[in-house]
Amino acid sequence: MDKPGYIRRFSRTERTVHWVHAAAFFVLLGSGLVLYLPRLSELVSRRPLVKDVHLYTAIAWAAALALIVVVGDRRGLRRTMRELELFDADDRRWLLGRRAPQGRFNAGQKLNAALTAAFAFLFAASGFLLWYGERDTRFRFASTILLHDGLMYVSLVLLVGHLYLALIYPATRHALRGMTLGSVSEDWATEHHAKWVEGRHRPEPETVPKRAQTLP
Ligand code: HEM
Ligand code: HEM
Repeated sequence: MDKPGYIRRFSRTERTVHWVHAAAFFVLLGSGLVLYLPRLSELVSRRPLVKDVHLYTAIAWAAALALIVVVGDRRGLRRTMRELELFDADDRRWLLGRRAPQGRFNAGQKLNAALTAAFAFLFAASGFLLWYGERDTRFRFASTILLHDGLMYVSLVLLVGHLYLALIYPATRHALRGMTLGSVSEDWATEHHAKWVEGRHRPEPETVPKRAQTLP
């Protein structure tokens, strides 16, 4: 049960997905930078080990995410995916810089989630090609490493913005409570995600008894 005045924002499954993804991302970023930056490479001077850390983290990341999906709350995850995919007129207004009430995720968060998912796929595909290209030269392409490095640069920019909003910016940093403890204050949620809070008070269509739906 949440404290009075607080409402549930993220389920245990959602929080586990987020923190597993974030932890793997930081290890991949750190080990990737050691492989990429000559100064860091010289400092660490154990390239084969760093390469192994990078690769095994990538495998562990994919396996952990698959495991969470199998044992976690799949229905809840599907519902969240649907919420993230839907861009309505308010989202478009919000993106144009106008004031518009937002659902459980604002339009910026929806874009961030879409980019994070697309990048995870592209990192994995280009990373696999980098690995496989070393074994079979027919799969070695100059553009693969350019893509992998380019993704890293764009991810870094997204990450800095994300961390600023989650940890520093006073109006949004309350969200960290939702991603750690699972709940946020109802007042904060009403201010930032009005449509979500309002929608929570209405019964979902399928929970309304059939007889009640047919009554005049
Ligand atoms: C998700 C799956 C991933 C896989 C399978 C993967 C795989 C690889 C492989 C095989 C290499 C080549 C290592 C070498 O031969 O030197 C590499 C390099 C690298 N990776 Fe990843 N990686 C992944 C994700 C990431 C992520 C999330 C980041 C950063 C955010 C990243 C950053 C880098 C960097 C900076 C390099 C060095 C590239 C260079 O030398 O120019 N990787 N990765
Ligand atoms: C210490 C590091 C991190 C912190 C403190 C953090 C914090 C948060 C918080 C508080 C939220 C919930 C926002 C809300 O209430 O809706 C969130 C959501 C999210 N996080 Fe993180 N995060 C971290 C790392 C990462 C990393 C590394 C990634 C991806 C590479 C990531 C991707 C996302 C995505 C896609 C969402 C959902 C959409 C959004 O809110 O933008 N996070 N994070």
